[in-house]
Amino acid sequence: MSAELTFNRITFRSRGQLRPGQLSAPKLINTTGGSAKVYESQIQIGKRTEKIALKFVPDKALADLARDERDVLHWLWRERGGHPNIVKFYGEINRKESTEVCGLAVELLAEDLAGYLKNKGSLPLDEVLTIGEQVAKGLAFSSEHGVKAHKDLKTENIMHRPETNEWVVVDFALAKKVRDENIIYGTPACMSPEQHRNEELDQRSDIFSFGLILHELLTGQHPVLREGEKIDDFLLWVTSLYKRKIEPKQEFPVLPKVSRSQYIQERLAAIVEKMCAPAKEDRYQDWPEVITDLKKLKQESSSFNEISGLIDEALFEAQPEAVEIEID
Ligand SMILES: Nc1ncnc2c1ncn2[C@@H]1O[C@H](COP(=O)(O)OP(=O)(O)O)[C@@H](O)[C@H]1O
Ligand SMILES: [Mg+2]
Repeated sequence: MSAELTFNRITFRSRGQLRPGQLSAPKLINTTGGSAKVYESQIQIGKRTEKIALKFVPDKALADLARDERDVLHWLWRERGGHPNIVKFYGEINRKESTEVCGLAVELLAEDLAGYLKNKGSLPLDEVLTIGEQVAKGLAFSSEHGVKAHKDLKTENIMHRPETNEWVVVDFALAKKVRDENIIYGTPACMSPEQHRNEELDQRSDIFSFGLILHELLTGQHPVLREGEKIDDFLLWVTSLYKRKIEPKQEFPVLPKVSRSQYIQERLAAIVEKMCAPAKEDRYQDWPEVITDLKKLKQESSSFNEISGLIDEALFEAQPEAVEIEID
């Protein structure tokens, strides 16, 4: 077992406690990115072996992040039944000889959306709408059950569950944070204008971040940060956008052509624009509204594809075949 992994028990709330010996040797799978260290391991539950991820907050000063995330996931899974698009919670991990929470045991997921996008370059409209709808459903569930905002929505915090081919929201470490005079929590390039201004947040702030994600999936590039650009540039961008004094270079990049239908293309642009409206009053007001429009667009897009496929076929069939003419 890794020397860094020092804990004395994992409390699986519904199944009692598990000692380190009952886990197969945990393997570190994440060393970069945020504050957490994530290990892969397996547990035996009866005859079944389940793969799990152990997420540790190595720094004691950040223990409150682990505790907050435990509280949120415990509430959503144990008290509210959980949701397929929210990372599944198994239990908390306690520091040696104390009851202090230092980590979580959650389901093991595969690739994150940032890595997936990097490999693919950009994603087709249908896939973006499918992923978008799944993420939106997970967040609709959490906000319906009182989690006002995730506060750190970005492609790195959306992961794939291959067994069900579903995308899952992870990292609820900031969800319980209340406004702090001195610190703005979040990832600047992915935050809404009101998150930058350190105001109280609700689901409309996540909806802004979600619009940035959809944009990124369709173009393959973060709409605001470009190669070599600094977070400060982004702050300027958001501030000027909020004041509606948009410099041409700071405007949202135009979405690429992802449908042959002008109507679908325009609807898509209007939906993303509404998500990213600078003032929260102009955005979708809640997740169910977002889901309705994503579903509708998906339906319209697939009917269009079906019809244009039929038209293509008919045109192809209408091509005159070569006729042999016999001349005496
Ligand atoms: N359940 C999981 N299964 C597999 N890998 C995970 C899981 N949760 C997180 N990771 C990996 O670890 C990284 C950091 O985890 P995350 O929960 O986002 O914490 P933070 O960003 O606060 O450090 C993720 O971006 C992902 O690559
Ligand atoms: Mg994260």
